[in-house]
Amino acid sequence: MSNPIDVLIVDDVAETRQNVRTLLSFEPDIRVVGEAANGREAVALAKRLRPGVILMDINMPVADGIEAAEAISRELPSASVVIMSVQGEYEYLRKAMAAGARDYLVKPFTAEELAQSVRRTGERHSDAAAGLRGPDHPGRPSPRGRVVTVFSTKGGIGKTCIAANLSVALRQCTGSKVCAVDLDLQFGDMAVLLDLQPSRTLADLAREETMDSSSVLSCMLLHESGVELLAAPARPEQAEIVTGKHVDAVLRYLRESYDYVVVDTPQSFQDPLLAALDLSDMILLVVTLDVPTIKSVKLCMEVMDSLRYPPEKTVLVLNRSSRQIGVRIDDLETALGRKVDFHIPSDGRLVVPSVNSGVPFVRSHPSARISRAVTELALFVARQNGWSEKRPQLAPGNALQSIGRKLFRKRDSAPTIQPLGRRE
Ligand SMILES: Nc1ncnc2c1ncn2[C@@H]1O[C@H](COP(=O)(O)OP(=O)(O)OP(=O)(O)O)[C@@H](O)[C@H]1O
Ligand SMILES: [Mg+2]
Repeated sequence: MSNPIDVLIVDDVAETRQNVRTLLSFEPDIRVVGEAANGREAVALAKRLRPGVILMDINMPVADGIEAAEAISRELPSASVVIMSVQGEYEYLRKAMAAGARDYLVKPFTAEELAQSVRRTGERHSDAAAGLRGPDHPGRPSPRGRVVTVFSTKGGIGKTCIAANLSVALRQCTGSKVCAVDLDLQFGDMAVLLDLQPSRTLADLAREETMDSSSVLSCMLLHESGVELLAAPARPEQAEIVTGKHVDAVLRYLRESYDYVVVDTPQSFQDPLLAALDLSDMILLVVTLDVPTIKSVKLCMEVMDSLRYPPEKTVLVLNRSSRQIGVRIDDLETALGRKVDFHIPSDGRLVVPSVNSGVPFVRSHPSARISRAVTELALFVARQNGWSEKRPQLAPGNALQSIGRKLFRKRDSAPTIQPLGRRE
């Protein structure tokens, strides 16, 4: 077995440190090497112990997690800081990510989310230690993220609704790092659907002389689900600044930092879109049951054929499949020469308020039929990426159970840690 990942736990509440230690004690490939109670102690210990991953609370006396993350990324760039925050600390969280933190966990988190985050960032640590950091080193078996693009040659058929809800569902059901990119460069509305206020967008990145991972990450907006968004330019006339080369570079950087990069698109084949399609591991081709859409999607499939995309790269998603408007599903399948892979029902009563309020329906109504359909789609995407639903099983009477219900909350049958570290 390869070396375990060394972890330093930083939190001023001793009980929280102990809980995190206990959760990690069940992971054979992770080893806790030390604990610190504030940011200053963390920096000193990190220099001495050289851990791969530092699990860091934000609010701490003496020096807080943001100062410590900044110092560590400056002085010990090979260590990965993972921030542990409580709900509502999103502004701090954003600052911490800008200060060089590589990942974050929102309390309460499950044992699985914790271990996944340590492994993901710990693997990056080993790469960095071997001097291999940077996007796509040829020959490296890189555990990079997957790019999933939601596309259709028809406008107004649900691409953005699907992209926004798919991103949140992916985050909700896998706990993975998920980001969304709004490539509808003229009229992108992903930020509206997620109720986010963009400050820096793709246009700002395109204007920069040199783009690197940290300039891309500094443009990400954090949604309360944990999904991060790279927003479309604020004004239509800024769209032309963004070229295919920019999109290619941005997506390559993002797939180094996220497990899933979900791309929303406009309806036309232009250079930035083609760059995204080329780089995509999966294209969700959205269709509805009407003749003009079927005709244009057929053309789109022909274009993808001519681009030599393998047929399995495309997944056919029928949106509003329950709407009876004349065309039958088998007519559609005959016309397109392939089966529909996923059906998303029509539910205007849920989708319209969701769009208007900026709350994705998979979040507000997770058990509605439409939400379950999008969640199924998210699980399919995740399974294609090797993800499995297996949760850690707790043997009866083991140490975790003896800690008692007051510390751990059951969620999807995985143990979680409560936000004990919260302070005003
Ligand atoms: N499954 C659905 N059930 C009911 N209404 C839906 C569904 N999907 C989408 N809609 C409606 O269609 C509208 C357009 O959806 P959306 O903005 O996602 O489409 P789009 O393909 O991204 O459009 P554009 O090409 O303009 O970017 C939504 O505002 C919503 O009202
Ligand atoms: Mg759209």
